This record gives sequence, C-alpha cells and structure tokens, in this order.
Amino acid sequence: MRQVPLEKGRYIIDPIEAVKLCDENTIGIVGILGSTFTGEYEPIEKLNKEIDKFNKKHNLEIPIHVDAASGGFVAPFLQKRLKWDFRLKWVKSINVSGHKFGLVYPGVGWAIWKDKKDLPEDLVFNVNYLGGKMPTFTLNFSKSASQVIGQYYNFVRLGFEGYKNIHEEFREIANNIAKNLKKYDIFDVISEGNDIAVVSWKVKDKVDFNLFLLSERLNYTGWQVPAYTLPDNLSDVVVMRIVIREGFSYEMADLLLKDLEKAIEYCKKIQNI
Ligand SMILES: Cc1ncc(COP(=O)(O)O)c(C=O)c1O
Repeated sequence: MRQVPLEKGRYIIDPIEAVKLCDENTIGIVGILGSTFTGEYEPIEKLNKEIDKFNKKHNLEIPIHVDAASGGFVAPFLQKRLKWDFRLKWVKSINVSGHKFGLVYPGVGWAIWKDKKDLPEDLVFNVNYLGGKMPTFTLNFSKSASQVIGQYYNFVRLGFEGYKNIHEEFREIANNIAKNLKKYDIFDVISEGNDIAVVSWKVKDKVDFNLFLLSERLNYTGWQVPAYTLPDNLSDVVVMRIVIREGFSYEMADLLLKDLEKAIEYCKKIQNI
C-alpha cells in the first residue's frame, strides 16, 4: 500500500501526489469522505479528474474506492452538489458506516459497487444451505440483523428531511464550538464541522501548550475529547477533535465549553503560559 504523505497545512490527500504513486500494478486508489483525523472531506472530484487523465494516458482503468464511513450519510443531505459518488466515472465502490453520529446501534456498515462487474466474481461466496443460491460477500457470517432494522427504521421514520435536519443541527453545534475555540489565541481550528460534524484543532506553531494534558483534564469532568498525533510526515503535530453525535444538545455543548475553559486555564497554569 502506498500512502500520500501529509504536509504542513494539508491534512488530506493531494490528488496530484496520489496519482504520481500509481502505476500499472495499482488496483485502486482510495479517497476519504470525512477524514478520521480532522473531519475534512478529501477532494474526490479532483481525484477522479487526475486519475482519468492518468488512465487515458497509460491506457489503464484504475478505479477509485470512496471510504465514506462518516460522510456517506451526511453529504447527500448537506452537500448535495458535492460530487463524490457514482456520478464520477472512476468511483466504482463506496463504503459507509450506518452507526456514525450515533444514528444506529454500533456495528453496521455498507459497501456498494457501481456495477455488478466491479466486484470480482471470485470474491463472492455462494452458499446453498439456506435454500436457493445465496451470494455473500462478508468477512463474518451469522450476525444479528438488529442494526439493519435500526437503520431501516431511521430511513422510514426520518426520511430525507429528518436526516437533513439532524445533520444541520449537528453542524450548527459544531460551528458554535469552533467559533468558541477560535477565541483562544493558542489554537488553530482545522475543521469547523462544515463537512462532517467534527471540530478539530491544533496548537498554533511556536505555542507550547500540551493537548494531551488538556484531554486528560477534560476527562476529569467526564468528557472524552481525544488528543492524538497525525500520521507519517506530520507525526509531530498533535490534534484534538470533538465529534457531535445524536443526543449531544446545545445545552451539553455549553457545558462542554465551560469545562473546556476551566481545563485550558488549568493547563496554562501548570505549564506557566
Ligand atoms: C474514514 C474511516 N473509515 C473507516 C472507519 C471505520 O468505520 P466503522 O466505525 O464502521 O468501523 C472510520 C472510523 O472512524 C473512518 O473514519
């Protein structure tokens, strides 16, 4: 597997750099709709454009898989014009997690292929012992269907408008948290929650403030706000993120912001800032 290294100020894929790593042995290229680390969408449309040029030039058919674990159930409601899916020529498969943002009990995800021919026959396992011919493409066999039913219930119960309202509210709460974080002159907000409802931030260059300590301090008041390092090439950059999920109300956000303020004061005092 070849990875596109991150760069200072760029925490998502660079499509031009990604395509430079492709050759005749490349079986696919992956773009992420909602980076785990910062919550930003990767530019799938641009990736499609670059791989299209490359495929034409070298007479190849390298497809794109979109890991839309977090964004797949957000973009259709909030960013309808954003092209990241099967409207793009080289996007041949997509995965989405149904349980993100607490919208289904954990453990349900979906993978879809653009066309039957995009999923190689020999990866599909055919069983007959349940009666008839049943194709299956899964890593684990028997499993409760409760999450599928939970997801289906939400589709029927919420409908398009329901999902849209929920995600709009998450975005508003995230934006408000981001706005508050910007008041502290020690932080750079990386994502304000305008893609998926994730707010991520780092400490400004040359400021010596320990986000691991802040995370630990917040934990004392019951908040799980992780601090972690970015992947290779930027592994010296520490980021914190807040994911807004179902049940996280405006009131809870206010409580969090109050606790955050106290925790920041504490950390500053400890670090003599
Ligand atoms: C981009 C991305 N892909 C895949 C996953 C894993 O998804 P799941 O929670 O369904 O295991 C995550 C989890 O956060 C993710 O952010």
